[in-house]
Amino acid sequence: MKTIAIIQARLDSSRLPNKVLLKIGKKSIIEIIAEKLKRSKELNNYVFCIPNDKENKFLKYYLKKRNINFFLGSKKNVLDRYYKTAKNFSADIIVRLTSDNPLIDVNLMDKMISKFKKKKLDFLDNNSPSTFPDGLDVEIFNKKILNITKKKARSSDDLEHVTLFMKRQKIKKENYFSKSNFSNLRFTIDDIKDYENICNAFEDIKLKALNWKKLINYLNKNKTLKKKFIGKRNYGLTLNKGQKLWLHAKKLIGGGNSMISKNPELYPSKNWPVYFSKTKGCAVWDLEGKKYLDFTTMGVGTNILGYNNQSIDNKVIRSIKSGNISSLNSKEEVELANELLKIDTWGDKVCFARTGGEANAIAVRLARLKSQKRTKVLACGYHGWHDWYLASKNSDEKNIRNHHLPFYSNKGIPSKLKGTIEFFTYNNFKEFLAKIKSDKKIGIIKMETMRFELPKNNFLKKIQKIVNEYNLILIIDECTTGFRENFGGLYSKYKLKPDIVIYGKALGNGYPITAVIGNKNIMQNFNKSFISSTFWSERIGFVAGLATLNTMNKEKSWKKITDTGKYIQSKWKLLAKKYNLKITVNGLPSLTNFVFKSKNNKIYISLITHEMLKKNILATNTIYVSVAHTRKLLSKYFLTLDKAFQIIKKERIEDIKERIGYINYKQFRLTK
Ligand SMILES: Cc1ncc(COP(=O)(O)O)c(C=O)c1O
Repeated sequence: MKTIAIIQARLDSSRLPNKVLLKIGKKSIIEIIAEKLKRSKELNNYVFCIPNDKENKFLKYYLKKRNINFFLGSKKNVLDRYYKTAKNFSADIIVRLTSDNPLIDVNLMDKMISKFKKKKLDFLDNNSPSTFPDGLDVEIFNKKILNITKKKARSSDDLEHVTLFMKRQKIKKENYFSKSNFSNLRFTIDDIKDYENICNAFEDIKLKALNWKKLINYLNKNKTLKKKFIGKRNYGLTLNKGQKLWLHAKKLIGGGNSMISKNPELYPSKNWPVYFSKTKGCAVWDLEGKKYLDFTTMGVGTNILGYNNQSIDNKVIRSIKSGNISSLNSKEEVELANELLKIDTWGDKVCFARTGGEANAIAVRLARLKSQKRTKVLACGYHGWHDWYLASKNSDEKNIRNHHLPFYSNKGIPSKLKGTIEFFTYNNFKEFLAKIKSDKKIGIIKMETMRFELPKNNFLKKIQKIVNEYNLILIIDECTTGFRENFGGLYSKYKLKPDIVIYGKALGNGYPITAVIGNKNIMQNFNKSFISSTFWSERIGFVAGLATLNTMNKEKSWKKITDTGKYIQSKWKLLAKKYNLKITVNGLPSLTNFVFKSKNNKIYISLITHEMLKKNILATNTIYVSVAHTRKLLSKYFLTLDKAFQIIKKERIEDIKERIGYINYKQFRLTK
């Protein structure tokens, strides 16, 4: 009977590349493990099994140079790698170890092997359930079970994690328990923090060998340090592909991604899928091919007509096939301007950009050209990331954070610009008027018609009156509200008379196109400034804009989403009534949310996200309605939401917190 330890190792770990070569003291992790295994009384041999690919070529060289056994095999199918390694080394009993565990205990392993042999077991491990610290994992199985697993296991998880399939089988299996429960301790090396913790601790105790019992003794005397070693078990195993990629993305991309609203750390569930592989209607597939229904923001407001809309995509594809850019202009730019000026007949000219932030910057530049000395902007709401907008004084920071900008910072903005913008609160006319009266430099009003709050006490009418009276320039940002309640900007419903209107988001149903429409007074100054950009001239945006306007008009999509939104709002209210929970429902029907009137609002919303994800629904408390949100899909949404409301009603807040893993908005961080 040959007992062989097979240790899986690789250099391309996404969270800590090359970690097996990192040194603790004078030796690398791989050398430490090999030296420990050499001392085993039960093993006949040990072998590192590594992926046979370019990224791991150096590991092969490294092991060869040190005369350490290795075997090369499939990168993705780790089960196959184990199977072939075991076969090659004629193993009868296989001891599975991983190379991220330098604290591995050979005495413990030997005791387990001897128990495995004595009781003639098929499978023995010390981690189901875990009582040892994470990082001391040993799994032992016989050749027969490995052969069966190789034949029958098919899921990607089973192939990657080798023993998951075995653990589900009815075989002679046992768990090896520790006398005391140390399962909350983390002695494995998954990321740089784990590595630093172990290095620092061992430097402190000046231990020659990496011994976990001595480490525990030391930690028991040093409670602050001990806290650093308390953590989640098998962390990597609990992450989905998207979450693993996100951890990698954070190392490569500033902020992890290009849009803060899609930062998964804002979503209160560790199961949030993070990345999509394909979309259709309001369905989104993650990297594992799992399908979700999107009842959140539908691309942060871009897709009123649903994802992957064929009538729009086909026109875009056709235009790509005949070339999307050249040294000449595309005629669709003129056609789209023509269509927009049919909607905003007061408009004189249009200029195009590709993002809402850019369009807002253009609008403010044009307004300042006209307002001459009165260049200060009085703003309300969110209008993008550009300097003109973030140039607020520090004293205004708290105020700004209420304008959909919880992460606001004016760091990086030249201090000379500070004070060129100020903010007013929606529906607070008194504050608005006081600011206009006290500051003669204010010449420009910048706002959305509304967001989640309806105008109260003729707020918009009063604003318009002051705009006229003080000869101010009124810019209405319809990036988010446009085309949701009517064909064009919401401002027309409230009879506002803007000088400039901005459209974005939904104008191209997901393709980048934004537009600034100005009246004659504004647009006659266009050539006095310099406003131009290469990609503002590419064709996809114009074609998508034309196709979107055409489809919206045909489908009367604003009516559909408003009807659906009203239905959603009434169902939310009914559900709250059913469970006697107090909520307020806010916003346009097609851009709506609900809030629990409770200090636990955020926890309840976290619970909703958590419970809805279990049924493959992406949901928070906000829905940007799309025509793809059919009644059939909504009934699925409400069935699951009903269960979440039921939990909120019935369970104690501590139990709810436990359900969601104490995860809460803005507290949630994948890396902690
Ligand atoms: C009203 C409003 N204006 C401007 C922007 C900025 O648009 P973008 O993110 O395309 O730059 C947004 C984005 O959320 C918005 O809602």
